Amino acid sequence: MVHNTDTSVVTIERFIIEQEALHPHASGDLSGILRDLALAAKMIASKVRRAGLVDILGTAGSENVQGEMQQKLDLFAHETIFKAMDHGGRLCAMASEEVEHLIPIPEQFKRGKYVLLFDPLDGSSNIDVNVPVGTIFSVVRRVTKGDHGTIDDMLQPGRKQVAAGYVVYGSSTMFVYTTGQGVHGFTLDPSIGEFLLSHPDMKIPAHGRYLSVNDAYEQHWTEPVRALMRRYRGLDGKRDAMNVRYIGSLVADFHRNLLGGGVFAYPVNAKSPSGKLRLLYECNPLALICEQAGGAAIDGVHRLLDVKPTELHQRSPLYIGSKADVDIALQMLAGTTNRHT
Ligand code: AHG
Ligand code: MN
Ligand code: MN
Repeated sequence: MVHNTDTSVVTIERFIIEQEALHPHASGDLSGILRDLALAAKMIASKVRRAGLVDILGTAGSENVQGEMQQKLDLFAHETIFKAMDHGGRLCAMASEEVEHLIPIPEQFKRGKYVLLFDPLDGSSNIDVNVPVGTIFSVVRRVTKGDHGTIDDMLQPGRKQVAAGYVVYGSSTMFVYTTGQGVHGFTLDPSIGEFLLSHPDMKIPAHGRYLSVNDAYEQHWTEPVRALMRRYRGLDGKRDAMNVRYIGSLVADFHRNLLGGGVFAYPVNAKSPSGKLRLLYECNPLALICEQAGGAAIDGVHRLLDVKPTELHQRSPLYIGSKADVDIALQMLAGTTNRHT
């Protein structure tokens, strides 16, 4: 619900405070987490904007400047988020796509009741070619009782998320999030360093124009997946052809489809028998956002938000986007094993 639109400029801070006021019993911890994430996003955005200058400004003399820089930005983004979030007393543990194990909160800081999971820089291999990249995050309430959070706090189904969001570092930087009351988007005004509400209560079209899939894997798909893609492309005569758009940065592909409608698919294939994308850092947060915007997200045969994770870095197939388009996948993949064997 968008609470206040009576003046034209609503900063993300103001929006978060006004949303919190709708919940008289809220402790303010979740709001604090979102504010800290917005700050981390600005720091990452400013670094990403300068990525192309690395040849001129830094790491000169290193053997693989492009590769190094890309790796550095992954790690920079990871460190920035960790340092923005470790001392607030609101989290009891974190997990990052860049780190193999759960990341404890340092002993000197208070522990809180939430867990943060994140993909610090999504699509980072695209940095060298000036293509949009992103950050994805997911917040769940802890379920264990001890001093520190544990893996059991992390391995909760996506429907337990209390907040999820992403940042897309595109032609502008946008911060999009949900706390289960709609999806709201904010655009960074670099001249004042603030995220301003630009896309209140985002809704995905019921069906859409865009099909986003890497069809270089066609030869490695299962037959049901091939049939599904033929349907989306209008090749079996049962629906109009969709337009194909694939950036190769999940956040950017998802963001475009959220606005324009359609489906993003990363099916199982012979090279990634359980899919490529990470359930906890990529699929679940975007699934919550998509459902909150009126869309759907499945792993092929199940609603993603109902899947019980078993490992931190678990991979999953992903079909996400407009409800009518995702429903076609659900129908055509029903009864399949949803694995490439
Ligand atoms: P990351 O950079 O966080 O490892 O994620 C890359 C992901 C995702 O952004 C994108 O959708 C996908 O990889 C593209 O994979 P393919 O190159 O196999 O299509
Ligand atoms: Mn990623
Ligand atoms: Mn990543």
